[in-house]
Amino acid sequence: MLADKDRIFTNVYGFQPWNLPAAQKRGDWDKTKDLMAIGQDAIIDRIKASGLRGRGGAGFPTGMKWSFMPKEPRPDRPNFLVINADESEPGSCKDREIIRHDPHKLIEGALIAGFAMRARAAYIYIRGEYIREAETLFAAVKEAYDAGLLGKNACKSGYDFDVFVHRGAGAYICGEETAMLESLEGKKGQPRLKPPFPAGAGLYGCPTTVNNVESIAVVPTILRRGPEWFASFGNENNKGTKLFQISGHVNKPCVVEEAMSIPFHELIEKHCGGIRGGWDNLLAVIPGGSSVPLVPAAQIRDCPMDFDGLRALGSGLGTAAVIVMDKSTDIVRAISRLSYFYKHESCGQCTPCREGTGWMWRVMERLRTGDADISEIDTLQQVTKQVEGHTICALGDAAAWPIQGLIRHFRPELERRINERQAGAGMQEAAE
Ligand SMILES: Cc1cc2nc3c(=O)[nH]c(=O)nc-3n(C[C@H](O)[C@H](O)[C@H](O)COP(=O)(O)O)c2cc1C
Ligand code: SF4
Repeated sequence: MLADKDRIFTNVYGFQPWNLPAAQKRGDWDKTKDLMAIGQDAIIDRIKASGLRGRGGAGFPTGMKWSFMPKEPRPDRPNFLVINADESEPGSCKDREIIRHDPHKLIEGALIAGFAMRARAAYIYIRGEYIREAETLFAAVKEAYDAGLLGKNACKSGYDFDVFVHRGAGAYICGEETAMLESLEGKKGQPRLKPPFPAGAGLYGCPTTVNNVESIAVVPTILRRGPEWFASFGNENNKGTKLFQISGHVNKPCVVEEAMSIPFHELIEKHCGGIRGGWDNLLAVIPGGSSVPLVPAAQIRDCPMDFDGLRALGSGLGTAAVIVMDKSTDIVRAISRLSYFYKHESCGQCTPCREGTGWMWRVMERLRTGDADISEIDTLQQVTKQVEGHTICALGDAAAWPIQGLIRHFRPELERRINERQAGAGMQEAAE
């Protein structure tokens, strides 16, 4: 189990105040100027050496992402950092805890990361439903300005840096990085075609990096404690500590910081009081938020909870939002409900996603009730393949993968429902 001394988020449960004096007692904003003094490229090199991979879902190496930004921005085209606090993936609730209870970790991280990538300012885009969290964030940013930590000559570093908080209006798609840029510019939140990638032409056409809240909030601690410390946790290529968010049928759902690569069994036993009704009662787990395929009980038990371990099982770490389902779950209904979510959240730009998400949901509903033909299972599988990889953004993939996981692991259950329904209809006909 991760020792308390190795936790980055020491106030994740809000036992202490979030405000600046309390944050400073926890070590935030301690000699930030000295951290910056090592230089922009040295900071990027240290983040690379720490092995930090993006915590927003895709796991892209953070230091490498920063290094794509122009080293000498043109005066009329400044660099920007955009921090993704949209957190709308069903199951995900970690960025919320950071902002509620440890917002200064994020704001200090914004300054250091923004400085490293030569950004003029950071925009924190927070999801519309996070009303109290946005209030906390606005107040924390104001505290930082008042204390001279942000703004002109931030932390007396000689570097000018602003942080703006921008509230979204509650659309999942605005979490996709280019939709977020559109939304920040005041337009409809619809993903852009790539290339150009944001590092080339992002916010207002300027070089931009989009990072998740957790990716940025861990940066100051990594620099203070050293990249080797961070890299001492987790398996090769899956380094660091990570906020896991465990929901569903465990005895004590929680958000907890643990070492990356902790086996699933250990994570659940140590922090969640075990599976409701015992391990034999476990049916399946969605390990990374709603868009990753589910993993059946037998396969997940000893799996290292990291990017590569879960990929080897045909799933993914995503945001580490672990949704646990015991045998009381109607698994077809659960996945059908997710299909409805993706149908609802599709922005409608691409035909395979706009039409496919609705089509897949309607078939899922018929599979749920058994009102389908056996052959439709294969047809549904084919349609998921026609959506996956054929759309502007990854929402199409996110809609396809949960269904593919269901068919891969629970085809007998789908067939059982159809057969029972047909047998029931047959009996009724015979009785008539
Ligand atoms: C439909 C969709 C929704 C997304 N929602 C979020 C989100 O709420 N928060 C987030 O950090 N990343 C989200 N992402 C991923 C972002 O596009 C982007 O990869 C991420 O913010 C990069 O940050 P990182 O490199 O620090 O992980 C979403 C992606 C897609 C396709
Ligand atoms: S995949 Fe869906 S959500 Fe993404 S751009 Fe296309 S229609 Fe919009």
